[in-house]
Amino acid sequence: MKIGILGAGAIGSTLALKLAAAGHNVKVANSRGPRTIDPDILVTGAAAVEAVDLVDGIEVLITSVPLSAMPALQPLVTKLPTSAAVIDTSNYYPMRDGHIHALDNGQVESLWVVDQLGRPVAKAWNSIVAGSFATKGTALGTSDRLALPVAADRETDKTVALSLVKDTGFDAFDAGSLADSWRQQPGAPAYCTDLTLGALPDALAAAKKDRIPQRRDIAMATIGARVEAGTIVTANDIVDVNRATYN
Ligand SMILES: NC(=O)c1ccc[n+]([C@@H]2O[C@H](COP(=O)([O-])OP(=O)(O)OC[C@H]3O[C@@H](n4cnc5c(N)ncnc54)[C@H](OP(=O)(O)O)[C@@H]3O)[C@@H](O)[C@H]2O)c1
Repeated sequence: MKIGILGAGAIGSTLALKLAAAGHNVKVANSRGPRTIDPDILVTGAAAVEAVDLVDGIEVLITSVPLSAMPALQPLVTKLPTSAAVIDTSNYYPMRDGHIHALDNGQVESLWVVDQLGRPVAKAWNSIVAGSFATKGTALGTSDRLALPVAADRETDKTVALSLVKDTGFDAFDAGSLADSWRQQPGAPAYCTDLTLGALPDALAAAKKDRIPQRRDIAMATIGARVEAGTIVTANDIVDVNRATYN
């Protein structure tokens, strides 16, 4: 597929590497221009472009930017044909992102994103720590392959997102509509806890909406305190903290 990735950070860079390696035609952009994109993320074939050129001719746009950047993206997204799929990877961390206008703590984040962009999205790749995403993908059929939830309202968006998640080395699970996607937000048992397809449905079902903002903040504070103390925090450390906090 012809894919544009907006955001070349921790998640966008791995998306660019993996989706180009899987044979897709991939462009990637950030806010500062193609010369600032790390050439190492282009080695499997992705092309670095200006953000204004990213949406030309693509079938799929993946937004992988801080949630606070979302309101400014509508003019770019409006240039996409309605047939194109938009897949969003974002999460809201008030302790990191500050207060975002009109996004209440505990709100369904993907529905807020739909309002900002003015079109439907699929929510995918939001629920894996960057370090796990970069290193823990495996071939289809591998035992104990990790799985990621995909939520969307349009069937075409969901089908595309499920397929592309598999292309990045993970099983994909249909987690329902965007209204249900709070079950894969920070603070929920399925969020960044490295689960297999056997465990993921139960983890999504076990989420309690009123609990997740507080648990998200507890885990964030725990990890933040370790970083402040000078401890190196690995992806596995984050998964361990999340598993202990979000159950
Ligand atoms: N890190 C994780 O473990 C993780 C896991 C799952 C989901 N997520 C979510 O995925 C999203 C991306 O996370 P990340 O960790 O990859 O972030 P990141 O490392 O901070 O990278 C963000 C990227 O977005 C670009 N960007 C920001 N504003 C932009 C704009 N207006 N137009 C174009 N590009 C823009 C930045 O480009 P410039 O540097 O040029 O501004 C940068 O390349 C976030 O919503 C995050 O919550 C993160």
